Amino acid sequence: MLTIRNLSRQFGAKAAVDRASFSLDRAGFIGIIGRSGAGKSTLLRMINRLTDVSSGEISFEGRVVSTLTGAAKRHWQGQCAMIFQQFNLVPRMDVASNVLHGLLNKRSTLAAMFNIWSDADIARALAILDRLGIADQAPKRAEALSGGQQQRVAIARALMQDPKIILADEPIASLDPMNAQVVMDALRRIHEEDGRMVIANLHTLDTARRYCDRVIGMRDGRIVFDGTPDQLTTGVARDIYGADASFSEATTSTALPADRAYAEAMLS
Ligand SMILES: Nc1ncnc2c1ncn2[C@@H]1O[C@H](COP(=O)(O)OP(=O)(O)OP(=O)(O)O)[C@@H](O)[C@H]1O
Ligand SMILES: [Mg+2]
Repeated sequence: MLTIRNLSRQFGAKAAVDRASFSLDRAGFIGIIGRSGAGKSTLLRMINRLTDVSSGEISFEGRVVSTLTGAAKRHWQGQCAMIFQQFNLVPRMDVASNVLHGLLNKRSTLAAMFNIWSDADIARALAILDRLGIADQAPKRAEALSGGQQQRVAIARALMQDPKIILADEPIASLDPMNAQVVMDALRRIHEEDGRMVIANLHTLDTARRYCDRVIGMRDGRIVFDGTPDQLTTGVARDIYGADASFSEATTSTALPADRAYAEAMLS
């Protein structure tokens, strides 16, 4: 279904993603883990074509999408909706209009500019909000909502595109544990009920283990693990997070304290 072959992205001398390959043959729920700077966001952004590929190839359902341009590229971007850590809503605009902006690729720019939508589009936006349990928030400004509610609005906006793939870049990193669970549950439910593929960059192992049926681990731009959550042992996690040094003699370790704290938090 989605195949990544030898994919790389250079930023100057730095390989943010370094010859990554994997193949997803069905619409699973996939988690990508790895420490800060491992290349997770760059990988997602290349899939969505927000970032250009330096070399290698991305194909979806047998078609190469990494070289698409113009309208074909926009069509592909409509098929793989992106969700971000900071929600990326228009703060002063009402919730329903934010959701309707998911249609930007499919409706005229003028309609969006003047916020003019058909009754059918509006009804659909409200139905999606209802499905996510926040229909009552529709008339409020996005900025008036809690983080968890805002992220559900962002998911609603993504669903408005009717995407085949949802790419979520640390969707719960800004949320408290309760809201994080609500958002992850929503993504999981959308995956199960609609059969959409979800690929989420996740910053804790625990979340990856709990929600994903496949986990990809990245380190220094490379894919160092690709397996099921139960194959994700502590030893494997150490390898992914590069925690070896931090776990030996804590006090004499050459690892930076910040690195150690990070690795330990990841493995807790
Ligand atoms: N636009 C850019 N210009 C230059 N370097 C970049 C750019 N985007 C990413 N990088 C570099 O590429 C590497 C991978 O970054 P990326 O954001 O993909 O990592 P990440 O795994 O998402 O990290 P985090 O967990 O902190 O979000 C890092 O070294 C980063 O500094
Ligand atoms: Mg990132």
